[in-house]
Amino acid sequence: MQDTVKNSEVYAHPAYYALGYRWNTETECDFVDASLKLMGPEIPKDSAPRLLDIGCGAGRHAMLLAKRGWKVTGIDPSQPMVDFVQAQAKSEKLPVTALVGELSSLGVSGPFDTAICFMDTFRFLLGNESIHSHLMAVADLLAPGGLYITDFWVPRQWDTIGSEIHQWEQTQGDTMVRVFYVQHPDSVDPIAQTFEDELVFEVHEGGDIREVRGGRTRTRLILPQEFRALVAGTGRFAVVGTFGEFDLTKPFTAESLSWRMISVLKKVQ
Ligand SMILES: C[S@@+](CC[C@H](N)C(=O)[O-])C[C@H]1O[C@@H](n2cnc3c(N)ncnc32)[C@H](O)[C@@H]1O
Repeated sequence: MQDTVKNSEVYAHPAYYALGYRWNTETECDFVDASLKLMGPEIPKDSAPRLLDIGCGAGRHAMLLAKRGWKVTGIDPSQPMVDFVQAQAKSEKLPVTALVGELSSLGVSGPFDTAICFMDTFRFLLGNESIHSHLMAVADLLAPGGLYITDFWVPRQWDTIGSEIHQWEQTQGDTMVRVFYVQHPDSVDPIAQTFEDELVFEVHEGGDIREVRGGRTRTRLILPQEFRALVAGTGRFAVVGTFGEFDLTKPFTAESLSWRMISVLKKVQ
């Protein structure tokens, strides 16, 4: 699984990735700030809150949160993404460190006040055991009362499992990136609860159009109740809230018809 992801062509284009995914970044960072304030550990005066960004990608959260006063460590298995984040942090003189690391082998030392794992990265953990070990490892890295905020796709309806497609686009200057998130229904394994999904970028730049296909990657379906059970099984976290948007006033409910479940876990032990 790791090789597939590391070699994904999409992740070899951090600048397109950064543009394609920037649309909700301010709101997502507002959510991180508000969660820390309302539910996180007390941050001593004159200290920067410490963030671990797991699967940081092109660093959109890392950069913005660093500008807002966080000290950030980002990990990602993709070397081009890590290099992109490091270069940005250096040129903007921001307290961001990016390292090669991944969900099952974080490779960093704490403590952190908050960890985040946004935009579906969590679903690369395919088995219950790997989810359990990952949660235990994150708990070990968090300060007492620290938060772990996860964000992953959940089906809106039973018959869409493994067959959803989402599309959006972002433009900057003369570059437009249209992002397609595609699930492949033919790949559904109902026993393992996995299927293959794919990111495809259609890049319009200076009059040219090119397609960057990320390649199919096997990911896991995690249902809300099972996530709660997996979290409870660690004995280390309490789920303090689940949200259908990056908005602490919008709980995740059937009515929200959301395709993302954002969970705030608090380290209790
Ligand atoms: C959909 S992107 C999300 C990036 C970022 N969190 C964001 O919201 O923009 C998925 C990221 O996860 C990384 N990734 C893939 N497999 C991973 C793994 N096993 N552990 C951690 N990150 C992984 C990819 O390199 C990519 O940067």
